[in-house]
Amino acid sequence: MRRRHTFLAAALLAGAGFAAAPAAAQGSLNLYCSVQVEWCQAIATNFQRDTGIRVNMTQRGSGETLAAIRAEGQNPRADVWFGGTGDPHLAAAEENLTQAYTSPNNAQLHPWALAQWNQSNQRAIGVYAGAVGFGFNTELLARKNIAPPACWSDLLDARFRGEIQVANPNSSGTAYVVIATLVQLMGEEEAFAYMRRLHPNVNSYTRSGTAPIKAVARGETGVSLSFVHDAVTERNAGFPVSYTTPCEGTGYEIGSMSIIRGARNLTQARRFYDWALTEPAQRLGFEAGGQLQTPSNRAAPLPPNAPDLGRIRLIEYDFAKYGRAAERRRLIERWDREVGSQPR
Ligand code: F6P
Repeated sequence: MRRRHTFLAAALLAGAGFAAAPAAAQGSLNLYCSVQVEWCQAIATNFQRDTGIRVNMTQRGSGETLAAIRAEGQNPRADVWFGGTGDPHLAAAEENLTQAYTSPNNAQLHPWALAQWNQSNQRAIGVYAGAVGFGFNTELLARKNIAPPACWSDLLDARFRGEIQVANPNSSGTAYVVIATLVQLMGEEEAFAYMRRLHPNVNSYTRSGTAPIKAVARGETGVSLSFVHDAVTERNAGFPVSYTTPCEGTGYEIGSMSIIRGARNLTQARRFYDWALTEPAQRLGFEAGGQLQTPSNRAAPLPPNAPDLGRIRLIEYDFAKYGRAAERRRLIERWDREVGSQPR
């Protein structure tokens, strides 16, 4: 079964039309959205339907969104940033690009979602969580007689030459979580030596964090470094995709939400923020968008067949350190110099 994106455009248009009348009275909301487009569209349509507030949504990766918010700092275009990995939300908070907010719905959230809120001085809050792992195309690997990877160390093996895809950390939050995970697991020098050795096995550093698992699904590459919930999304869409999580341990994201400093539609932004933390809104990720992250609202169920983070060997990811703007910039620049720019 092939995924169809066209109905989404139709759904959004329908949603926009539906909300057109009450929107005039309720105002509008400019939303930057860094989850997959299916979920972004579902959020825009449902929030618009529930509140009459018209939503102008732009979907981009986490790193790209941070760059846009930085560039627009003096003249913000967005009111809310929904989703994307937690580290760039922490960097935005530190750079005073976002603003503090206490939602009455905070009490409904898991402690890890509130930990993000506390360490960002109330500027970013967790909306979902997910772990990094290896996605792979079962048919392609079987045809090539390649055993799937089980450990980080396996990826260096010659059997994966040109067979791995991962995103570029300049644009993708997923790719930055991969780098920060390796640094925390191995120490910085060893992690960069590892990435340099991995480089010949990587066929492409994509712009979006989810592009590699989509390439796996289409059989264009054997293996991806991805959030494992995205591998299940592809499998549920009918593709021969499976995943493993690294035997040495792995990192994870606290997908986050922030209100932009200087938001022109602050009332609508807070209304969206409160809404996005509710159980029905958090069910939308799976029910309307086919997404399988762990929701931050305690009453929102883990979607069927979603990866259970309690069963994955997670590192104690140091969000405070790796969410720091200077640390993020330094590691990405080092990656550009020593890995991304190198010939293969
Ligand atoms: O929407 C899927 C997802 O994997 C999220 O869980 C994650 O926050 C986001 O994509 C990251 O996207 P990118 O790597 O492009 O910033």
